[in-house]
Amino acid sequence: MISNPVIDAMMNRKSIRKYREEQPSDEVVETVIRVGQQAPFAMQMGSVLLSRNMERNIFRAPLLFTICVDVYRMEKVMEMRGWKRKASDLYTLMFGIQDAAYMAENMVIAAESIGLGSCFIGAAPFMAEKIKELYELPDRIFPLVMLTMGYPDEDPPLRPRYPMDFHLFEEEYPRFSDDDVSEAMKKMDSGYLRQEYYRKANYMIPLPEGMEERFDFDKYSWTEHISRKLGLWGENPEDILKNLELCGFSIRACI
Ligand SMILES: Cc1cc2nc3c(=O)[nH]c(=O)nc-3n(C[C@H](O)[C@H](O)[C@H](O)COP(=O)(O)O)c2cc1C
Repeated sequence: MISNPVIDAMMNRKSIRKYREEQPSDEVVETVIRVGQQAPFAMQMGSVLLSRNMERNIFRAPLLFTICVDVYRMEKVMEMRGWKRKASDLYTLMFGIQDAAYMAENMVIAAESIGLGSCFIGAAPFMAEKIKELYELPDRIFPLVMLTMGYPDEDPPLRPRYPMDFHLFEEEYPRFSDDDVSEAMKKMDSGYLRQEYYRKANYMIPLPEGMEERFDFDKYSWTEHISRKLGLWGENPEDILKNLELCGFSIRACI
């Protein structure tokens, strides 16, 4: 594989959840934001909120960014141009989510390349009410993801990934045999077990009453963890529809 400073920064990045207290300088923060802004965009519908309030920030991170889908700003531009939106919220969000996500990842890589660590926090859409209130957001702005950032105070190992033949499908998508799936699962699970990820975190997703726990920290690993997330959580679409509506987006109206 080719190596250069950009690739090395991307390949050596890992999520950081413990930070030194030192506040990154304004120049560092501006660089991270500016590189984020330079990401490819469909409609520049991503914007960034920043809190330097360590006491309050997740993981006591010196920087907490909340990356938002920002249709408010775009519609201000349209207004100036004398246009009214015809696009459905589903259509608009599809592009806004992409713009915001590519921008967020650019920030992660820029940060990594100058010695900062970071970690995404995926709960932002479920915390929309609190975030909207905290930052006094107008309607048509939806918090997509949070990103903690600062100088690392830990050096975790690189987390495994699926094998390449379970990830890249050239010309045609294959049908997986059970053996193909088992092999890919083994790579993830043995990697996380070797690193004692869940034992160190002392966390297994609890099973609901009536389901017998058959795992301990010698066996509980990534594929079980993620399966439990999608097998137990997030059943009610109302949670997210309600928060979208609170922020002035209606998916219901699109259907
Ligand atoms: C959309 C998204 C949401 C995430 N949410 C969380 C989170 O809530 N808490 C957390 O500790 N890590 C979170 N992460 C970080 C992942 O756990 C991490 O990227 C993954 O385990 C791979 O590890 P690595 O980043 O060290 O390679 C999130 C990552 C993404 C992309």
